[in-house]
Amino acid sequence: MSTRRELPDSPFLAAASGRKPSRVPVWFMRQAGRSLPEYRELRAKNTMMQACFDAELITEITLQPVRRHGVDAAILFSDIVVPLRAAGIELDIVPDVGPVIDHPVRTLADVQAIRPLEQQQVAPVADAVTRLVSELGEVPLIGFAGAPFTLASYLVEGGPSRHHERTKAMMLGEPATWHALMTALTDVTIAFLQTQISAGVDAIQVFDSWAGTLSLADYRTYVLPHSTRVFSSLAAAGVPMTHFGVGTAELLGAMAEAVSVHGAPAVVGVDWRTALADAATRVPPGTALQGNLDPVVLLTDWAVAERAVRAVVEDGRRAVDHGAGGHVFNLGHGVLPSTEPELITDVVALVHSL
Ligand code: CP3
Repeated sequence: MSTRRELPDSPFLAAASGRKPSRVPVWFMRQAGRSLPEYRELRAKNTMMQACFDAELITEITLQPVRRHGVDAAILFSDIVVPLRAAGIELDIVPDVGPVIDHPVRTLADVQAIRPLEQQQVAPVADAVTRLVSELGEVPLIGFAGAPFTLASYLVEGGPSRHHERTKAMMLGEPATWHALMTALTDVTIAFLQTQISAGVDAIQVFDSWAGTLSLADYRTYVLPHSTRVFSSLAAAGVPMTHFGVGTAELLGAMAEAVSVHGAPAVVGVDWRTALADAATRVPPGTALQGNLDPVVLLTDWAVAERAVRAVVEDGRRAVDHGAGGHVFNLGHGVLPSTEPELITDVVALVHSL
């Protein structure tokens, strides 16, 4: 295992760890990707999956938004389905659709066929992390993985889904099969994140993008124990850990519980539906918050964007007054592909000036 570097002056790591940052840190989910012409140029010559298993391309695509926008953190270029593909599940990432699974997981036998992830299956990812840590200088690198529920949704539905009905039907109707599936996916997520931590990432984020489809009671019964195991297994590394989902207003307390109880700095991602100051009252005191500009704001113009960005920074200050451990400026979900990259750069400069 490489020795973790110390970045005491990083505004992102300070805000995530409950220390006072020198400025409001800002980065964007999906900052590496289709909003950037330099990304589209590289992607024209490689499929998404080729790019995700090529250390040089992972490194270059991760660095692109850091160079261009001056964000306070890099996020590893990869995808939540990369460890599933690496572990032998046949799937592809289809442009403008998302992950598509050849043989959806529907039965206990399907679940039992899921193999554990071996470190060497994601060697290019580890290699890219090593390169990035040396190339990024003082900018921290965030590693990530999908949470077990969101991975389960893709595997059971066979692709993207609006209502996640087959997933929820398995969860409610076949709880033994469900928990076996969640246990296998939790193991995959832990192994993928452990690979990234061992290679030197400075923080991790777990994306439970679709958990907001669940009631709080069902989240607690069918998902929380598994997501908690992800964070408890990794906390010893001591890196800040962020737990993010969309439409999770009612789940924020439980999602904070999953990530907070293990001693490592805890951050909860908030989407644009919930004010950060309200979110602060739903999570344990000292939990940092990340968010929550509506990505659609960046499809409008500077006058609209400036007002909205200032409002999020002020809301973040109120959240800290209400007990949040810190505020990391981000969107409430990922950058939309049609966003003008110049507007993103201007938002970074504005946040830094406030
Ligand atoms: O944030 C970053 O810049 C790092 C890269 C990143 C990607 N996917 C690259 C990507 C991250 C963090 C993800 C996570 C991811 N992938 C999530 C969780 C975050 C979220 O958005 O809720 C989910 C649900 C996925 C699954 C997935 N992969 C979707 C829904 C899509 C988009 C489908 C489409 O084409 O609109 C993908 C593909 C994908 N992942 C792209 C990128 C840059 C586009 C691929 C392309 O170039 O065609």
